[in-house]
Order: sequence, then C-alpha cells, then structure tokens
Amino acid sequence: MTPEVVKNDACWNLIAKCVAEFKPQKIIEVGTGTGMGSTQAFISAIIDNKLNVEVTTLNTIEADYNRYKEAVSNLVDHEFVIPWHGVASLGIMSEKEVHSFIDMVRMERPNWNLALYTEKQIMEWYKADCETIKEHGKIGGQLEAFDPMDMVFLDGSAFTGWSDFLACKSAKCIILDDIFDIKNWSVYCELLTNSKYKLIARYQEYRNGCAAFRRVA
Ligand SMILES: C[S@@+](CC[C@H](N)C(=O)[O-])C[C@H]1O[C@@H](n2cnc3c(N)ncnc32)[C@H](O)[C@@H]1O
Repeated sequence: MTPEVVKNDACWNLIAKCVAEFKPQKIIEVGTGTGMGSTQAFISAIIDNKLNVEVTTLNTIEADYNRYKEAVSNLVDHEFVIPWHGVASLGIMSEKEVHSFIDMVRMERPNWNLALYTEKQIMEWYKADCETIKEHGKIGGQLEAFDPMDMVFLDGSAFTGWSDFLACKSAKCIILDDIFDIKNWSVYCELLTNSKYKLIARYQEYRNGCAAFRRVA
C-alpha cells in the first residue's frame, strides 16, 4: 500500500488548490486509510477556505474495517466528515489485465515504483483485493450513492481505479493519486485525451505522481 499523504507534500497541496478553486459542497474520498493523510488535507482546505460546513460534506470510503474504525476515531471532531465502510465500486481488473500491466511496466516503464515488486507479490495484493470486493459484493459499491458529486479523490484499491472512475463521472473535479501506477494510469490517460476534461495540475516527480482534472463539458 502506498503511504498516506503527508502535510504539504505535492498531493496535499494539489487537494488544497482544488478545494480553493472549486469550493465544493459534496466531496468524496476513495481510500480513507486512517484518516490522517489526504483526509486531513481536505479538512484543512475546507477550514482554510471558510467553506460553510453546514452544507459541505466530505464522504470518505475505506474498505478495511480496522482502518475504517481508526479513521472514525481520528475524524470524530469534524461533523462534516462522514466515514463509510465499504468498497468504492465492484469492478476489478481481470487477472490477465494485471499480468499485462506488469509486463508493460517491466518493458516500458522500468523506473516506476511498481517495477520494484515481484509479480508474485503484486498478484497476492490483487487476490486480497478480489476477496474484499467479493465480501462487499452483496452490499454493492458505495460511490454510486453519492452521484451527483462535486469533487472526488481516487486513492483506493490499486486494481479498481478504472471502475471507481466510471462510478463518478459526474464529478466536476477529479483528483488522482498514483497516476504512474496500476491504480490510476488508465484513468489518467483517459482524462488527458478526453475532451470533456481539462488538466488543472499534475506533479510527476512526486512518488507515483498525482494529477487533477476539471470537467469542462
Ligand atoms: C493508499 S491508501 C489511502 C491513503 C489515503 N488516501 C491517504 O493518502 O492518506 C489506500 C486505501 O484504500 C483502501 N481500499 C482498498 N480497496 C478499496 C476499495 N475497493 N474501496 C475503498 N477503499 C479501498 C485501503 O484499505 C487503503 O486504506
């Protein structure tokens, strides 16, 4: 798992920039972690920009129950933050797609962090995330319930980035962590070439990169 966002790092500053620009009312975060990383970046930005917390909500989704519980206790002081336990969406890459992606990275992007891990390790992570999706299958994906939404931050499972993106196309602003990784590479490429979206900013040197896009049509 990629470490949490840290105060004043590139992703933290990207979140701050987007909140200042869009002044969103309904924000969805996929991948809360313990609530001490990117969630804190949103909280700081909401407070710093004096957004009306009577009408602003930060809904944050975490699939791992223990992490969710930790986040609930870390976030209890902010009523506008609503932690949810569940998976963002039910779609996950196929095993074949994961193998192909790993091959692509080995051949074409050997400098990516993903290249540091063995195929065996990556497939173990994949199998664990498949199990999580299966467990939550009956309840369904959480993202659909939030449509329409103003802003979404996609930082959940490494293997569901595309599926998560499909569930939140109404968002006026989409922020992606891990653009140079299996998690959000395909979403990043799609948004760069889709005429409905315009790049706001990106940080390519930061960890696995992060980027934000606005919807223009
Ligand atoms: C990289 S961490 C998120 C870190 C956090 N956004 C931050 O920067 O502070 C990814 C989180 O997504 C959670 N996760 C994994 N699969 C998920 C899914 N399908 N839906 C929602 N969350 C998921 C993991 O348990 C993990 O806590």
